[in-house]
Amino acid sequence: MKLTSSEQSMLAGKHGKATQKAMQILVALGTIYNASRMVPVTSVQIAGVSFDNLGEAGLQFLTEMADGGGKARVLTSLNPAGMDIENPDVLGIDPLFAKNQRRVIAAFDRMGVLTTCTCTPYLAGNVPSLGDHIAWAESSAVCYANSVLGARTNREGGPSALAAALTGLTPEYGYHLGENRQPDLLVDVQVNVSSSIELGALGKTIGERLQASSRRLPYLRGIPTLSMECLKSFCASLATYGGAAMFHMQGITPEAGIVPLPKEQISISQADLEDAVESLSDASPDEIDFVSLGCPHLSIDEIARIAELLKDRRVRREFWITTARPTKLIADQRGYSQVIEASGAKFATDTCCVVAPIRGRFRALATDSAKACYYAASKNRFKTLILPFDEVVALATRE
Ligand code: F3S
Repeated sequence: MKLTSSEQSMLAGKHGKATQKAMQILVALGTIYNASRMVPVTSVQIAGVSFDNLGEAGLQFLTEMADGGGKARVLTSLNPAGMDIENPDVLGIDPLFAKNQRRVIAAFDRMGVLTTCTCTPYLAGNVPSLGDHIAWAESSAVCYANSVLGARTNREGGPSALAAALTGLTPEYGYHLGENRQPDLLVDVQVNVSSSIELGALGKTIGERLQASSRRLPYLRGIPTLSMECLKSFCASLATYGGAAMFHMQGITPEAGIVPLPKEQISISQADLEDAVESLSDASPDEIDFVSLGCPHLSIDEIARIAELLKDRRVRREFWITTARPTKLIADQRGYSQVIEASGAKFATDTCCVVAPIRGRFRALATDSAKACYYAASKNRFKTLILPFDEVVALATRE
C-alpha cells in the first residue's frame, strides 16, 4: 500500500501506541484485500460492544487501546451493548455482567467515542452523506448506509472499526470502490410490501436466493415507495439471510439510477413471502413468554404507535421496547415512555433481545423482526413467532 507521510508516521508510532496498533491493523487489512491506499472516513460505528460477545479478552484489548492514548478522530458511535446502561436491574441483568459492561463503555468513553449504543446510528445523529467513506460494523446499518444513504463502507469487524476511528482512515477496497457497487441480480418484486414483517420476509427470501446463486448485490424493482422503518427492516433481514452489504431499489435508493441493470433475473411472488413468514415461526401464541419490538432499534414513530396501542392496557408477558437513548429521551419528552411503562412494558435502551445475556431465560419470543427470529433461535435457543407489529403488541397484552 502507498502510505502518505502522515500515515507512515502513525505506523512508526509517532502518534502513540494505540494509533500505531490501529494503523498496523488497517495496513494488514489493506494488504489482504489489495487496497492501493487509505481513504479518510467521516464516520465510524463500532460493533462487538456487548460484554457477552467481547469477553475478558475483548475488554483487555479495549483497555490497552485506551491506555495507549487512543482517541477517536472522527464521529464514532457504538452498536448496542449487553444491557440498558442506566437501568440494567429492570431487565434482570446479572450485577457482575453489568460491572464488566460498564468497564467496556468506560474504555470507549476514554477514547472519545460517543457512547450512544445503537444499531440505527442514522436515527441518532451519526448520519453520513451520499458518497462519504465511512467505517461501520453493524450489518443492518452497513446495508442501510451503503444502499439508502449512498455512503461507502465495508462490513467492518470490531477491531478494524476502532482502528478507523483512531486514525480517521480505512483501506480503499470493496464497497469504497464504484466498480464493486454494481448490481449482479435483478429482482422483480411482484407483490405489495409495506410493513416491517413483509420487508423482513422479502429480505429473507432475496437473501437466501443470493446465497444459492453466489450473487451479492441485488437490484430491486416494482416497489413504489417505502418508509424508513421498512427499509431498516429489509436491510437487517437481507444482511442476516444473504450476507449482503448493499442493494439498489429503483426509484428509492440514490445510486439505482446510475448503475446498469443486471442480466440475471428472478421474481418474488406473494407465495414466496408467505413461505418466508411461515418458516420464521415454530412457536404458538400460547408458548410466548417474551415479546420484543425494536430489531433494528425503534424510531420515534414506532414508539408513538406502541404507546397508542398500550394506552390504558396491561402487558401480561415480559415485553422489551428496544431503542437508542436519544430516541428514548424524545419518547420521555413526548409522554410516550410514561404510557408504555405504566402498562408494564420495559424500555431496553442501549441494548436488544439478541446482544443481552438472556440465553435460556425465556422459552419463546414474539417479534415482528426476521433478524431477531434468526438470532433468537441460533444464539439464545428460543422458539419464535413472527407477527405484524400491532399484533405483537396485542399478544403482549393477551391474558
Ligand atoms: Fe440491532 Fe440487535 Fe437487531 S443490534 S439489528 S436490535 S439484533
